[in-house]
Amino acid sequence: MIEKIKEISAKIYNEVVEIRRHIHKHPELSFEEKQTSEFIKNMLDEYGIEYTSGYVKYGVLGVIKGKQKGKIIALRTDIDALPIQENNTDYFSSENKNIMHACGHDIHLASLLGTAKILNKIKNELKGTVLLVFQPAEEKLPGGAKLMMEEGVFDKYKPDLIIGQHVMPDMPVGNVGFKSGMYMASTDEIYLTIKGKGGHAAMPHQITDTVLAASQVIVALQQIVSRKANIPTVLSFGKFIANGATNVIPDEVKIEGTFRTLNEEWRTEVHKLINKIAKSTAEAMGAECEVRIIDGYPYLKNDELVTENAINFSKEYLGVNYVENMETRMTGEDFAYYSQKYPTTFYRLGTMNAKTKEVFHLHSSNFKVDEEALKNSTGLMAWIAYSFLNK
Ligand code: NI
Repeated sequence: MIEKIKEISAKIYNEVVEIRRHIHKHPELSFEEKQTSEFIKNMLDEYGIEYTSGYVKYGVLGVIKGKQKGKIIALRTDIDALPIQENNTDYFSSENKNIMHACGHDIHLASLLGTAKILNKIKNELKGTVLLVFQPAEEKLPGGAKLMMEEGVFDKYKPDLIIGQHVMPDMPVGNVGFKSGMYMASTDEIYLTIKGKGGHAAMPHQITDTVLAASQVIVALQQIVSRKANIPTVLSFGKFIANGATNVIPDEVKIEGTFRTLNEEWRTEVHKLINKIAKSTAEAMGAECEVRIIDGYPYLKNDELVTENAINFSKEYLGVNYVENMETRMTGEDFAYYSQKYPTTFYRLGTMNAKTKEVFHLHSSNFKVDEEALKNSTGLMAWIAYSFLNK
């Protein structure tokens, strides 16, 4: 079967590249993926794959039933783009102003359509069912993954495991990477407002120095990371707005940041600590602190057994030298919601040109991939799915 999958994969490569370029040229923002959704449905119609749609408006669930009954495996792609003006000038560069596939979701989507085509061609030899999850809104809270599950995407077919992939700009094309266990972080947004009676900067003894209080709050909060955490934790503040003047202390300072970690209990505990430390530090300085924390995605854990098997299947398909072990990352991904409920593995697809070794960063206006990545990605995911069902 491995040879057969490789053969079909090679045959459809050009078609998959065309699909990717079409998607890339017509990107749509999170929760607005109308045309993309139509395109997916048209392709599934063309392949003769049944589906249901309308999850989170534009989500699609394709179903490929094998000849024999067996396990159910779900393969997931995200389908949304980012609010970025593309800086590349290829003929297939984005024609939508300020919208760009700068996170590789066009690659994931084209790849999954290719995988679907392959699996549909060999469905008589499949022992079980393949679910194709085309998920909107990965890039925007609360994320399409959570909403699709709430809307019952897995009510009829409950997956035994879920697989997803993501491009990796600094991994050479031809390689994939896996990480068993804790892989990506939870991502919460922190909004702090420090309030007090500001005034003339020459008379600080008569006013509340909100700027100094806000500075102390930031310094004090770092103790959570340096003195309380014993697992990977990030607390970073990228916005600090004190809109006074050289001689004016403002009444209010706004601070915004991100909190990331890899354990749900610790995450809840840190929310409490942020509240306590921020409020009491501000209070000690004669100010007040309002704390608002917006829950982002949970942390992403890759199931050990599923990951180990997927690594072995990948080594069979690509060769042992093309499968890498990866480190934990503090970035986030809404695939995490699936990982909290089902055995999953989320792996990385190398998209760096092996010769130039140029790295194009995700979410940047000049993001680019080496499309050679699509040579293996479609067949690899098909082989992984086949192997999980049939072996
Ligand atoms: Ni992404």
